[in-house]
Parts: sequence; C-alpha cells; structure tokens
Amino acid sequence: PVPTADGARGLRFTPVAPNTADAVTAPGGYGQNVVIRWGEPILRGAPAFDPDNQSAEAQAGQFGYNNDFLALLPLRGEPGRQLLVANHEYTDEILMHAGYDAANPTREQVEIAWAAHGMSAVVVQEDRRTGALTAVTRHQLNRRITATSEFRLTGPAAGSDLLKTSADPTGTRVRGTLNNCSGGTTPWGTILSGEENFNQYFAGAGRVTDPDRAAKLARYGLTTGESERKWERFDDRFDLVKEPNEVNRFGWVVEFDPYDPDSVPVKHTALGRVKHEGANIRLTDDGRAVAYSGDDERFDYLYKFVSKNRMQKGDSAAAREHNKRLLDEGTLYVARFTGDSPAAEIDGTGTLPADGGFDGSGEWIPLASGDISYVEGMTAEEVYVYTRIAGDKVGATKMDRPEDVECSPRTGKLYVALTNNTQRGTAGKAAPDEANPRTNNKHGHILELTEHRDDASAKKFAWRLFLVCGDPADPGTYFAGFPKDKVSPISCPDNVAFDVHGNLWISTDGNALGHHDGLFGVATTGRYEGQVKQFVTMPNGAETCGPLVQETRVLVSVQHPGELDGATVEHPLSAWPDGPGTMVRPSVVAVWREDGGAIGV
Ligand code: FEO
Ligand code: CA
Ligand code: CA
Ligand code: CA
Repeated sequence: PVPTADGARGLRFTPVAPNTADAVTAPGGYGQNVVIRWGEPILRGAPAFDPDNQSAEAQAGQFGYNNDFLALLPLRGEPGRQLLVANHEYTDEILMHAGYDAANPTREQVEIAWAAHGMSAVVVQEDRRTGALTAVTRHQLNRRITATSEFRLTGPAAGSDLLKTSADPTGTRVRGTLNNCSGGTTPWGTILSGEENFNQYFAGAGRVTDPDRAAKLARYGLTTGESERKWERFDDRFDLVKEPNEVNRFGWVVEFDPYDPDSVPVKHTALGRVKHEGANIRLTDDGRAVAYSGDDERFDYLYKFVSKNRMQKGDSAAAREHNKRLLDEGTLYVARFTGDSPAAEIDGTGTLPADGGFDGSGEWIPLASGDISYVEGMTAEEVYVYTRIAGDKVGATKMDRPEDVECSPRTGKLYVALTNNTQRGTAGKAAPDEANPRTNNKHGHILELTEHRDDASAKKFAWRLFLVCGDPADPGTYFAGFPKDKVSPISCPDNVAFDVHGNLWISTDGNALGHHDGLFGVATTGRYEGQVKQFVTMPNGAETCGPLVQETRVLVSVQHPGELDGATVEHPLSAWPDGPGTMVRPSVVAVWREDGGAIGV
C-alpha cells in the first residue's frame, strides 16, 4: 500500500515517492521555480555570477553559499513583494572553485569564503499567476551580512574578560557570524539565527597546553591542528594560540533586524554559547519571550531562555528597540527528561514499552539569570560562555542531536527534531533512555513537549515521542499511532515549521534509507495525526533546509547540492539547478500549485 492524497487540510496531495533523481521533485499538479542561486547579485553594483572570475568584492554583494534558514517577511506598501532572509551556513570550496587546492587556498579564495558566509536579505516579487518568486536586485532593504560584518555582543556576558581580544579590548564588538544554520522569526519582526559548528574555523587546539583550557575547547569540538579551510593563515583571530578568546565570540544566537538596513546585528550572550541549531520564540500569556534552542551535537542538550520583560505591541520605533533588548535579560534553562516506563522496557530497538508510548515528564533546570549563576563552581559569565559544561554539571539529559525546535501556533506544544545519533548505546556512550530510545539511532525522532499548564515559562513539562523515524516497515518506528502502511518513510529530521493549518513540516538531512532528503508534512492532531507525507525530494547530495510554508507556496533551501565524495567543479556529481555543463549551485526553491490554489487543500 502507498500513501494517498487523502489527508488533513493542508496536506491533501499525493506524496512524492522516495527517489534518487537529481532534481527537486514535487507532487503532481505542483510547479516550482528557483528563487535565487548562490552568486546572484543582490546589492547595487554587484556583478552577475561568473564562476571563472569570482572575487570577494563581488561575493559580498551576491547571494551567499549554502542557504539554510529562510524567512519571508511582509513589506508594507509594496504589493506583491516580501522580504526574504536566508542564512549561509558554510562554504564548500571544492565545489566553488575549479582546480581548488585544499592544502593551499589563496587569500582571494579565503576572502570569497568569508563573504559567502553569513546572511542575506533580499526582496522578492510574487508572480501574479503562480506562486513563483523572483529576486528584486538593488532594493534598499537588500543586505549582506558576512564573516566580517560588524556585530555587537549584548546581554550579561558582554564585556566579559572571556570575550576580550586584542582587536576588541571591550569584549563587545565582533567581526562576523559563522555557520548560521537554522533560525526563527520573532513576534517583533526580527530574525534569530544559530551559530552552529563554529569549531571548524579555528585552528591550533593541539598547541594549547593549559589542560583546563584544552578541556573546554575539546568540549566544543576544538581538537585539531590546522583548520579545513586554513583561514588561520590569513587572519590570526582564527588561531587559538595567537588569539585565545576569539572562539568564545562564536556559538551564539544572533538577532538581525532586516527592516533596518543600518542596524548592527547582535549576539545574545543570555541564551548561552553552544552549537545552536537555531532559536524560536513563544510568548507567555503575559507577553514574555521564551526562546527554545537545541545544541546540535550527539549527547547534547535542549535549552530555553525566559525573558524578564514583556514584549511591547505595535510597530513604533520605541517598541522595536524595547523588543530587540528582550533577549538580554532573563533566565537560561536546560532540559532534563524522565521516562515513565521501567528502564528495562527500553531495549534499544524502538519497541514501545508496555504503557504504549515513549513518554514522561521533565524539568527545566535553571543555569543562570543575569549575573547570578545556579551552577556550582561556575560564575554566571562562565555559564554563558561554557554553557555545555554548565549543562553537564546539572545533569541535563543527553539527547540524540537536538536540532530545530518550534511551537505549534495552534496547541503551543513544542516539537524538537532529534536528527540521529549512531553512537547511542555504543561502547562508553550513554545508553538508550525513554527520550532517546534506540541504540545506533540512524534515523532520528521527533519529540513533543507540553509545558506545564501550557505556560511557556513553566519549570516542568510533559513529553512524548511523536515520531520515531525510519522505514515504516521497521517495527522500531512509530508515527503517533497512525497506520504505518499509509505513511512516507522519513529519516534524519532536521528543520521544522508549521503551516497556517497547524500541520508540522519536517525537512531532513542525511536520509539513511538510501534515498534523497526531502520535505514532509504531518498533522499533529486529529484523525490524520502522524500521517507523514513527503512533499518534495532533493537533488543529488543536497539536504533540505529552511522550510517555510505559506498558504499558496512552500519555500525550501536546497543546501549543498552535489556534495558527494569525489565531486569537484570539473567532475560534478549533480547538474542541479541549471543542467549539464553548468555549475551546481545551492539555491532557494519555491513550490506552488499550478492552478493557483492553496497548498494541500
Ligand atoms: Fe546545520 Fe544541525 O544543522
Ligand atoms: Ca512510557
Ligand atoms: Ca540544520
Ligand atoms: Ca543538519
């Protein structure tokens, strides 16, 4: 039996079959277009993309590489237009430059990479007849933020000695943002973005002799000699011996106001320093902002931050400035999950315990609030800068790579993508537990968290596993109880988003079932709860990111297409998006119904 067009409102489409086509494949009756590609000019004066004549100057005015998170924001007074914001997580030089010598990158190649990281804001124009979007170049709100743009550190650790460098003795001004993965749009109209695997840019951990410092670096994955991209040869700040604290200025949640082209984006120290996948906000009933964030590492933690102050409504300049400071004062928590079934019933296979569910209760353990630390042996500044170590000390629950998180706008429940963890239950590593129940978890799961009394600032919560991913024919999978012969296979959930109907959309990274990654929709309540349906599949080598579901269009980031072993510019293993003989380019794609109707109704 195969999944059918039948489904919850918003998910009434015939699912795309798993495949390995070098294409974005959408359901029948749906059209698509490439909204913007790596290298397309967005700023005034930027040249057209020329793969054979790239320069850092050109790239600084062009759409960056490896788009990940996406947001579409309204543009008042400009009918048919929206403001697209995209993250550019990382560069893949071997697919960017013909003849790239990984052992000896040139200064120009390194500076192109700095300019290709970061974020883009670019106005997009809707096609009146279809759901297609195209970029509006040279709009006054178009902006590039790169690995060298000015940022401000704010919140309780700003100015800390741990954040001071020779270039910034104040510990408050940073050049650039790195590895911006997922993110969120705040209720006050700004963008949050997570600095994720920042460790890969810093070299020299092997030369650090102080054991305490080496241990801290190791906890953040800094263990090697040279970095992969060799940036340390061109800027001392990427050398951990020459500039010990620069690395502490990455790993934050950044906030960016795309409506103000002159605004200086900030890094929020109050939300802690981890490999943030992203961050998403839910407001409490009294208007405080609660930011949820996962630390994407095997055996790392889920966090939330509860602001002290309330959001101000309205769009006045004063309200905007107030709201942009909300994430500077509050309390940072980490999650501990407790299962309600006997440990002996969690056998590592994914077989449900006798009570019929992987579920239980949990608590948010406070780590710090302003300059007060709740962690023994750590100052508040240390808690913010070495947040992972604070989580270790308080006994937070080691999770299977907490990625994107988002609250349902209908029910308030939080959904957490736990992408996979092939080390779970292996020698010397944490055993399966009810919240992470499978040994060698190749396919990941989705956890649903319900705050006590539906209060986002609660100290306690209930939880259950909503999906245990994989091949539905595998008895160790679970689709919220929906018949498993009527769902699409899904593996390695990564980013999550909600549509206007309250359905959860899940994009995947690293499909371990032998097919390409994709985007899936699933109802979280009602008679179709758990019916996972695949909406698109990705081209060769690509991960699906940034899903964004509007009433009449779906946007996806096609990240790292062609990133496969042995691929180079000269010998590409993908010809997406422009066909044979052209360069493979990460791009944003819009998918829409050819008859102009709403998605999935
Ligand atoms: Fe950049 Fe955790 O994905
Ligand atoms: Ca249970
Ligand atoms: Ca991701
Ligand atoms: Ca990922």
